[in-house]
Amino acid sequence: MSNRPLRIGVIGAGDMGVRHLKSWLQVKGAEVVAVVEEVPERLAAIKPLLETTVGLYADYRQAIRETRPDVISVCLPTSFHAPVSIYAIEHGSHVLCEKPIALSLEEADRMIEAAQWQGVLLTVGFMLRYTVAIAKLKEWIKRGAIGRPILAISENFMEVRPKILMHDRHVTGGLGDSF
Ligand SMILES: NC(=O)c1ccc[n+]([C@@H]2O[C@H](COP(=O)([O-])OP(=O)(O)OC[C@H]3O[C@@H](n4cnc5c(N)ncnc54)[C@H](O)[C@@H]3O)[C@@H](O)[C@H]2O)c1
Repeated sequence: MSNRPLRIGVIGAGDMGVRHLKSWLQVKGAEVVAVVEEVPERLAAIKPLLETTVGLYADYRQAIRETRPDVISVCLPTSFHAPVSIYAIEHGSHVLCEKPIALSLEEADRMIEAAQWQGVLLTVGFMLRYTVAIAKLKEWIKRGAIGRPILAISENFMEVRPKILMHDRHVTGGLGDSF
């Protein structure tokens, strides 16, 4: 295996994309080579975080073709997860896709089949597994401090900018129609 840094592409620079980007920038042995975002103001906002050599793109296909990342973070609304992941996989990239994997089981199966066919890794990020509160809960359960809970309910208050698309059944599997 080569010792060169892993080349990383981040697709989508919204809430999750910026989190992925900032995390990748802290990973030793990883080098961000491309960020893709169709809203120019969002690309401009993350530019100061990046080396001048990082490619900034509006078109994910162009970014993948030109920078050939080893790993792609897919941080787009869910309806884009399958087509973008499959495109990246077909170009030889491993894919870390935001959750949920896709809008349908068929799409998810196509993503998995593409990754198996290409021999690359496809994984789905579920950040709650790694948050401090959940890690603490797991630790308590493991050492038997709180018995054997079968259900945990938690409420998480956080600021989110209005994202009408994120509630659309065609984009995220939500309840509404925004088109
Ligand atoms: N926000 C959260 O707390 C959260 C938590 C876990 C998982 N997720 C998942 O992460 C994914 C992204 O969510 P988000 O909250 O970051 O959304 P977001 O709207 O903040 O970000 C998505 C970004 O993708 C860009 N975009 C959309 N289509 C594009 C395209 N074709 N090419 C280039 N850029 C494009 C948008 O302009 C936007 O900036 C979703 O699948 C969501 O389920 C979000």
